[in-house]
Amino acid sequence: MKIRLDKFLADMGFGTRSQVRQQIAGGNVTVNGLPARRPELKVDTDKDRVLFCGTEAAYAQYEYYMLNKPAGVVSATEDKKEHTVLDLLQERKRKDLFPVGRLDKDTEGLLLITNNGDLAHRLLAPGRHVDKVYYAEIDGKVTREDAELFRAGVDIGDKKRTMPAFLEILSSADRSEILLTIREGRFHQVKRMFHAVGKEVLFLRRIQMGPLKLDEKLRPGEYRRLTKEEVEKLC
Ligand code: URA
Repeated sequence: MKIRLDKFLADMGFGTRSQVRQQIAGGNVTVNGLPARRPELKVDTDKDRVLFCGTEAAYAQYEYYMLNKPAGVVSATEDKKEHTVLDLLQERKRKDLFPVGRLDKDTEGLLLITNNGDLAHRLLAPGRHVDKVYYAEIDGKVTREDAELFRAGVDIGDKKRTMPAFLEILSSADRSEILLTIREGRFHQVKRMFHAVGKEVLFLRRIQMGPLKLDEKLRPGEYRRLTKEEVEKLC
């Protein structure tokens, strides 16, 4: 792909367009070993070697991160009052990244962050019914009857009942542990489903979205890039 040098560098997170133009004008950017002084220079993203202040700038059209979202941050690109999931990405980051879908502020777990809008649309489109798996701790004993109700679909106050969902009871006690697989992504869906059967969610963590599983090595707040295999499975 051929692309303007200033766009190339701004896309890859080296600064805003005007910041990278200043560096280009200052002779701090080389293309194939030669200082490039024109921001409009077209570079071949597959062949040309671009150095920004001595650092190699490899172009990637899309980037993908898996974040283990901690409680206390919001799933947004920016927020006037709260810390966002994007604030957690510490490295140089491009400006077009966004979280795919939302987890509540108090929910932990798997959140995909990318700039691939087509993929996000495919994962989130209501007609696609991508499985999402949640681990939850519930106030009270979760029963087989709850599992039956979830399988049949429950009324959570929307026009339609929920689609059949699969509830696996890991332990049933005063504080039960469960896994719930849902195929929709309605607002507060897991909490509202339990509320519909008279129970409350005390803790919620997403552990899977489609083929993508939360890496158990990531602690809340940690992230990593997706592997090639993970990207292939998703795409
Ligand atoms: N369901 C919820 O209730 N909250 C979330 O964050 C995700 C699913």
